[in-house]
Amino acid sequence: MKTAEASVASSKSGSGSPDGTKGAEVESTADGRGGTADRNMSIANWQYHNPVKVVSAPGAIGEIGVHVPYERVALVTSAGFTRRGIVARIQEALGSHLVAVLDDVKPNPDLRDIDAQSARLRELRPDALLALGGGSSMDTAKALARSLTQPESFTLTAHFRDAQPLAPAAALPVVTVPTTSGTGAEVTPFGTVWDFEKKRKYSVTGEDLYSAVAILDPELTLGLPEETTISSGLDAVSHALESAWNRNASPITLALVAKSLQLSLTALPRLKTQPGDVTARSAMQQASLLAGLAISQTRTALAHSISYPLTTAFELPHGIACSFTLPVLLNFNAGADDGRLQDLARACGHASIAGLEQGLKEMFMHLRVGAIFARYVGADREVLALTGEMFTPGRADNNLRAASREDVAGIVQASLELMRESGAAEKK
Ligand SMILES: [Fe+2]
Repeated sequence: MKTAEASVASSKSGSGSPDGTKGAEVESTADGRGGTADRNMSIANWQYHNPVKVVSAPGAIGEIGVHVPYERVALVTSAGFTRRGIVARIQEALGSHLVAVLDDVKPNPDLRDIDAQSARLRELRPDALLALGGGSSMDTAKALARSLTQPESFTLTAHFRDAQPLAPAAALPVVTVPTTSGTGAEVTPFGTVWDFEKKRKYSVTGEDLYSAVAILDPELTLGLPEETTISSGLDAVSHALESAWNRNASPITLALVAKSLQLSLTALPRLKTQPGDVTARSAMQQASLLAGLAISQTRTALAHSISYPLTTAFELPHGIACSFTLPVLLNFNAGADDGRLQDLARACGHASIAGLEQGLKEMFMHLRVGAIFARYVGADREVLALTGEMFTPGRADNNLRAASREDVAGIVQASLELMRESGAAEKK
């Protein structure tokens, strides 16, 4: 079993990095729990660029034609949106400009499925893609946007497995309409695709994979099932924290992260008991957006790096896989804090990083994260056997505090204990 990752970089940007941001200088503090704004000001070397136009409007679907000024649009979504009548509303709004409806996107999209979808769409010659759904729909649309401007002989499978080269062509424009709150893919320049046969995870990435427009309609998130609400919401929490303890952090990303966490740490627990709370749904949509803007610059770090083999091995939902280590990782990264994590804890209403760590653990208990985790994941020894696969280049090395294999094993072991405490089955 091996999990690995590679990137399809933009021919325009010429780089797998979304913006070429340089790593920030990080000062370690003597006690590891520093906490002054002065230290944060030591992050002096940074850039910020995100070109996505964001429109937030309840009921935006009915007016979507205003934001999709293309002649031949292909809708990329999953079957549930056809069943619930959302696709019909889009067909009505776009009329003859909607030339294809691809509604067979599956969770954790596999690159062979995307190649088949690409072959079907190619004949219809779309000039733009409209992604409606959660991260899987947006990831699929980005991968299709990349594929469809390549020569007919191009496949993602051949590209990733056999290094088939990429021709210099910009991706098709993508309009994103997120219906979950967590992935942030509506404002990031990367998408995740999987090769489950080979047990590998890949990214398509590049400046030209930023959405042309991201449309937020909180009404679309009202019917989300509980497990999807929790899993996607925890993905947003993970993005915020991973962007905070990240070597690429900047004053802008840290400000985005603080606001994102303030929103999610209040709204997500509320949605467990009040799933129809529109204010909380809207807050989670904003939290996801803000964390997405932050990781569009910093990318993610060790929690995501640890998550990938768990998803390929157990099909553990991404939001659970990338969040179950967060309280332990917060404690771990506190050892290299330059003041930013202390400031973040205070911004979230805690006197200390330890207080924020405890707050995260209590939220896990309330959400019974461990009960979801246990439905997918095998025995501890099976998880710990994957430790060597948990160092994804471009993720693990973003982490504020460098981690050894022994560190990761300890982090995973402690997190497995936390999963049991937060609702998992008895120790296996
Ligand atoms: Fe994520």
